[in-house]
Amino acid sequence: ERGEYRHYMLKEIFEQPQAIADTLDDRLSGTQLRPECFGNEAEALFADIKAVTIVACGTSHHAAQVARYWIEAFAGLPCSVEVASEYRYRHHVVPEQALFVTLSQSGETADTLAALRQAKQSGYRATLAICNVPESSLVRESDLVLLTHAGPEIGVASTKAFTTQLVALLLLTLALGRGRGIDETEETRLVGLLRSLPIKVEEVLRLDERIALLAESFVDKQHTLFLGRGEQYPIAMEGALKLKEISYIHAEAYPAGELKHGPLALIDEQMPVVAVAPNNALLEKLKSNLEEVRARGGQLYVFADYQVPLDESDGVTVIRLPETDDLLDPLVFTIPLQLLAYHVAVLKGTDVDQPRNLAKSVTVE
Ligand code: F6R
Repeated sequence: ERGEYRHYMLKEIFEQPQAIADTLDDRLSGTQLRPECFGNEAEALFADIKAVTIVACGTSHHAAQVARYWIEAFAGLPCSVEVASEYRYRHHVVPEQALFVTLSQSGETADTLAALRQAKQSGYRATLAICNVPESSLVRESDLVLLTHAGPEIGVASTKAFTTQLVALLLLTLALGRGRGIDETEETRLVGLLRSLPIKVEEVLRLDERIALLAESFVDKQHTLFLGRGEQYPIAMEGALKLKEISYIHAEAYPAGELKHGPLALIDEQMPVVAVAPNNALLEKLKSNLEEVRARGGQLYVFADYQVPLDESDGVTVIRLPETDDLLDPLVFTIPLQLLAYHVAVLKGTDVDQPRNLAKSVTVE
């Protein structure tokens, strides 16, 4: 039931603190990850893993792309990520002792399921499904399973399914990182951060009214460009996907460093640029990219945490987010982008929960 909410999508955006808490529940014990949360055989199996492949579609593919940064940085394992419809139709070299991971809200996405079936024939060490539907085909057909506990998602645009997938992927990073890049002290630190996440997300949701006002600047635009770097690049892609699918505004995401290799030519006052700018090692680089946009008359909307030294000026609007650890930034910065897409769609009067031409579960190719 939608209850007090005007749309399921808004309800589901606001359910994220609970959905994240539910996904963490039972998976953590004190300051450590419960290794058996991936099944009893998982710990021994993960110790043998030398590479990870993740396959998914749409929003789930964006979560997978964030995880690539985590798995390589924290577990030191090579990780490749691909959209399922591409993966299934090409020849690939399967690395030795590789784990094949599928990521899906529904567990019924035709291309993802086909990719899993193919992977099972091609020499992977094991298959793992991260999925929101316990009785789905993907769950039934995988060796290992980690369920996201997002609860039913009715809005076609994925919101809480995405953030709970990111949480599940952090749990996977921890499990794979044990005995590799993550020692006990680091595990304690990471688990502490995970436990703080529902409250962080709650704090960011308070931006709702501010973002509803911001949405007015986008409603009459034909296009929007999203920029990010590092783990924020897939978050920029997710922001662009949300905006295009529910408000029908053409949106694209670029890694900010690519601007001068082409997209800078698009910048004028009719092309708003949204940037996600947490206070991390790439901030200075990102700031010079933003200056390139500003100097060409682009309207910039920057989501940044409080410590980022950025001034509002002509053409630059800064929306401040609470300070978080780098690890949690992808989750925290997703929330305002979901809200932005939502409020732009509401202002445009589109069918937010049932966007034209789209289905919740894509069970045909
Ligand atoms: C976008 C969206 C889709 C799905 C995609 C995969 O908001 O919901 O892009 O993410 O169709 O679906 P699942 O995760 O069910 O495999």
